[in-house]
Amino acid sequence: MSSILIKNIKLLAGIREDNFLLRGKQLAKLTTIKDAFLIVQDGLIAAYGKMDDFVYRNSDFSWQVEAIGQTVLPAWCDSHTHIVFADSREEEFIDKIKGLSYAEIAARGGGILNSAKRLNATPENELFNLACDRLDEISKQGTGAIEIKSGYGLSTEGELKMLRVIKRLKEKSLVSVKATFLGAHTYPVEYKDNHQGYIDLIINEMLPVIAQEKLADYIDVFCETGFFSTEETEKICQAGRHYGLKPKLHVNQLNSIGGIATGIKLDAISLDHLEIMTDEDVDILAKSPVIGTLLPTAAFFLRMPVQPARKMIDAGCTIAIASDYNPGSSPSGNMNFVIAMSCIQMKMLPEEAINAATINGAYAMELHNEVGSITIGKKANFIFTKPIPSLAYLPYSFGTNLIDKVMLKGNFI
Ligand code: NIG
Ligand code: FE
Repeated sequence: MSSILIKNIKLLAGIREDNFLLRGKQLAKLTTIKDAFLIVQDGLIAAYGKMDDFVYRNSDFSWQVEAIGQTVLPAWCDSHTHIVFADSREEEFIDKIKGLSYAEIAARGGGILNSAKRLNATPENELFNLACDRLDEISKQGTGAIEIKSGYGLSTEGELKMLRVIKRLKEKSLVSVKATFLGAHTYPVEYKDNHQGYIDLIINEMLPVIAQEKLADYIDVFCETGFFSTEETEKICQAGRHYGLKPKLHVNQLNSIGGIATGIKLDAISLDHLEIMTDEDVDILAKSPVIGTLLPTAAFFLRMPVQPARKMIDAGCTIAIASDYNPGSSPSGNMNFVIAMSCIQMKMLPEEAINAATINGAYAMELHNEVGSITIGKKANFIFTKPIPSLAYLPYSFGTNLIDKVMLKGNFI
């Protein structure tokens, strides 16, 4: 049995004795202990407290870590990403600088279709290695749990290939991984004028294999003008439900077309993006149990209006924040930057952003009993910061790497 003592922690943050999804005002409460210790046993949190109350003997531990001057936080829970992709798309980045919109690029066969063409031509092993490198990079930036979507296959073979890569990441990585089937990301070229044909392919051909091989935990649809309508979203999600996949949906990124009401009706775990929210969208989301997942770096990268986080929190919504790491709208999985953007652009308080990126992110992946807070019995997933004067310094000093080291399941990575 391995037991680790982490001692003399300047500030231990994100402590939760009772686990619950934070909503509205609750998001601003982040419990901390100054001058603290933490005990890890077999990869799990076994105890924590003030150094003054430390009653153990040094010989009780197989290993000791000094954390003088450091702040220790739960590792980030990034509940919305697309990290399995074949290639970057910086040529479209230039097109956007020159004035084309995301929707115009998509209409020209760029965007998701561009990534799909490249992904279908890339062998599974190569995709796996590329995704491993990305996961490795973001875990060093503090991410300890992640949701990863398919959606760049858009063919049975391509979607299954992506989901098999995600399954391998799940088995291999110290980062906890959840898989989402996003076959309904866009219509492939050959189904441009036969939407029903592609929906039938998703429902009758892709979903049964995905269910049989247990390749996905969730189902996602890009519910958006020019992509999937609310009716199509409903049909696809109901088929997913039949196989036990709960919805986590892309809605209200470019337009408000009823995705919020549809997602609530479908009992979605989360509704993600939310750049364009009407007052009614905010109101019905606040009255529902569904998590609104905000992706501020996608809004930033596409020069979209920022998500109305303040309005949503004040209305009593439950909010998570995530990176949306993907080659088209957010080519970064750095959750430290997501937190900074949440504070700078969306006017979230540092405590709100940290909670939205930890415990609420964990809820948005149904991993809340395992990760997302300093709670006895949860995984020993911690960020050790370099010396910082306060928690607010993390988002304030955006762009500076303030992470000294990361522990996942009791291992320094
Ligand atoms: O979350 N909006 C839909 N899907 C992704 C972008 C995909 C892409 O452009 O490759 C997103 O922003
Ligand atoms: Fe996305």
